[in-house]
Amino acid sequence: MNIARKLLVTTGALLMAGIAACDHEEHESREESSYKSFTRLDVAPVNNPQYREECGSCHFAYQPGLLPERSWQKMMSQLEDHFGENAELDEQARAAITDYLVKNAAEHSDYKRSRKILSSLDKDETPLRISETRYFVRKHHEVPKSMVQGNPEVRSFSACATCHVNADKGYYDEHEIRIPGYGKWDD
Ligand code: HEC
Ligand code: HEC
Repeated sequence: MNIARKLLVTTGALLMAGIAACDHEEHESREESSYKSFTRLDVAPVNNPQYREECGSCHFAYQPGLLPERSWQKMMSQLEDHFGENAELDEQARAAITDYLVKNAAEHSDYKRSRKILSSLDKDETPLRISETRYFVRKHHEVPKSMVQGNPEVRSFSACATCHVNADKGYYDEHEIRIPGYGKWDD
């Protein structure tokens, strides 16, 4: 067997193993499966229980690497009017969570999506929504409204994890998307 052929066979076997693991284990044991060996995390997962608890009660706990420092700072200084809701925290919690978000913001991350989101922004732009960053808009422009706003199981692009089934682990790859009511996303 020549080298090119051998590589092809090995890659194929890995792929099959990955697909089998995904189908049968419902993404639960994603970490253990060989799938990991050929996909990379898109952003660093959340590893702060206080953040997860306080900021993950109304919606998905967005990874800090999805926005720049200045966005988190601005958001955390106006929690009493947070997208029309009151998300105020006591001062100790506010300070601790701001510190976590700022230290792990896109500027401080080597992960692919963090770098792409950051470089899609102008220096003087301070988006409060990940879903309004240029990179996000570009990546989602082919997703029809009927699957999002018109979809009672989704409602808004803010609900990352309803479509990106492994979002919580830091995976946003286009091959790991299932739209509620529509099924697997197939480009
Ligand atoms: C009381 C409920 C509530 C709490 C608590 C809350 N949020 Fe939100 N958040 C919202 C709502 C409502 C939206 C808008 C969602 C939409 O448009 O569908 C939102 C949107 C966001 C978005 C923008 C998502 C996008 O579209 O890109 C970010 C980022 C965010 N919140 C961060 C936080 C952080 C950080 C905390 C903790 C300090 C927090 N949220 C706590 C209700 C809440
Ligand atoms: C309605 C379902 C839906 C929601 C909600 C959603 N996405 Fe997506 N996302 C998609 C689809 C579908 C694609 C692939 C689009 C394509 O291939 O044209 C995508 C692509 C992406 C990509 C690029 C992946 C790649 O392989 O290039 C990233 C990163 C991403 N989404 C992040 C997010 C984040 C962060 C959120 C929440 C703030 C979010 N998405 C919310 C459906 C969704």
